[in-house]
Amino acid sequence: MSGYKEKNNVLHIDGVSLQEIAATHGTPAYVYSADVIKTQYDALAGAMQRALPANQQPMLCYACKANSNIAILSYLKSLGASLEIVSEGELRRGLKAGFKAEQIVSTGVGKSDSEITACLKAGIHQFNVESIPELENINRIAGGMGMVATVVFRFNPNVSGGGHHKISTGRKRDKFGIGEDSIYSTYQMAADMEHINPVGISMHIGSQVCTVETFKTAFETLPRIVNTIREQGHKVVRLDIGGGFPIIYKDEKLLDLDHYAEWVRDIILPLNAEIIMEPGRYLVGNAGTILTEVVYVKETSDRNFLVVDTAMNDLIRPTLYDAYHGIEAVQNRDAPITKYDVVGPICETGDTFTTDRELPKMERGDLAVIQSAGAYGFCMASNYNTRPMPPEILVKDGTAHVITPRQTYDDLLGREVIPDFLK
Ligand SMILES: Cc1ncc(COP(=O)(O)O)c(C=O)c1O
Repeated sequence: MSGYKEKNNVLHIDGVSLQEIAATHGTPAYVYSADVIKTQYDALAGAMQRALPANQQPMLCYACKANSNIAILSYLKSLGASLEIVSEGELRRGLKAGFKAEQIVSTGVGKSDSEITACLKAGIHQFNVESIPELENINRIAGGMGMVATVVFRFNPNVSGGGHHKISTGRKRDKFGIGEDSIYSTYQMAADMEHINPVGISMHIGSQVCTVETFKTAFETLPRIVNTIREQGHKVVRLDIGGGFPIIYKDEKLLDLDHYAEWVRDIILPLNAEIIMEPGRYLVGNAGTILTEVVYVKETSDRNFLVVDTAMNDLIRPTLYDAYHGIEAVQNRDAPITKYDVVGPICETGDTFTTDRELPKMERGDLAVIQSAGAYGFCMASNYNTRPMPPEILVKDGTAHVITPRQTYDDLLGREVIPDFLK
């Protein structure tokens, strides 16, 4: 039953008809398969279990920026995940989902004072520090609270990874991390601070990293860094090797996780430290789709447009990253093939999901899914054009659970205030 499968010429998710989900919950709607999330989690955890000793398994910190719905967080927690957060909001989501503070690592290049305070108060596992000003600020805030903050430093290895330049984070020119020219002096500075306990190094070179060798190249920089820091007399007891595992959007080859895990065994394990990983997209991306209805079929002398009821405000990846997303018809899947531009209703040409895509012939009222939308989908959505946010639905064991209801117009308009001078 796992995943997206056709039954009686209708697309189903984990055995539930997407036609029925649309009839009950309307469109557009984000729909997620719990089974696919579990399959992905088990694949990654399994590769690590095969390669590493039982007492040196990594802490798999789900990078919840990929999909921060509290039910998804809670589900991943039940599978054994820990959590990576980038904001006070994500910290609050994680705690609400039931994660213990010591399962949470805080990353990000611009941690605010209130975020740092909230993380210290909660007692998180560690801060992944990106700069000296950030380090000084954490020291100051921890001092004011009479605490000592546990930190690791994000090392920038100058290794380019990532499926698009906007999600590549490991190059010297990127805003992330600290290069080798200053990592040693920064570690020393931290060791001299009263309210900082430096315990290790982190690294995250980008997202949708499709060449497995790129990880190896980045890993190979770590022994030199770790050994030099140790020779300076400091402890390095944690190594956070980040996320970046790819999913399938079109014809990408999935990473050979056993290969990856063997490099963790061969390069990282001998450094004798607690291993932390931060997978995001990989755990949730292929589990999700947007279910959408055709509003109009517009035929011009040039092109055939399928105008659907979802738009770039719901899924921004195609226009932001020129990302490819698979699109499938939900019903009448054996209709003759036609070429379509699939577009949303928003007044921008950028509100285009694809051009010249071959799909079964469709009519007004027909349903389609936009695939691989479980990561960086709903969490990047907006109310542009005053469009209410779609619901999120998690399918588990043959039941569709609403995990975020569709936003109402009252929700959407109710927060805005007309000042007295206009009344
Ligand atoms: C520090 C950090 N860790 C982990 C991730 C997750 O990356 P991915 O979703 O590619 O696994 C990101 C993504 O931006 C990140 O910035």
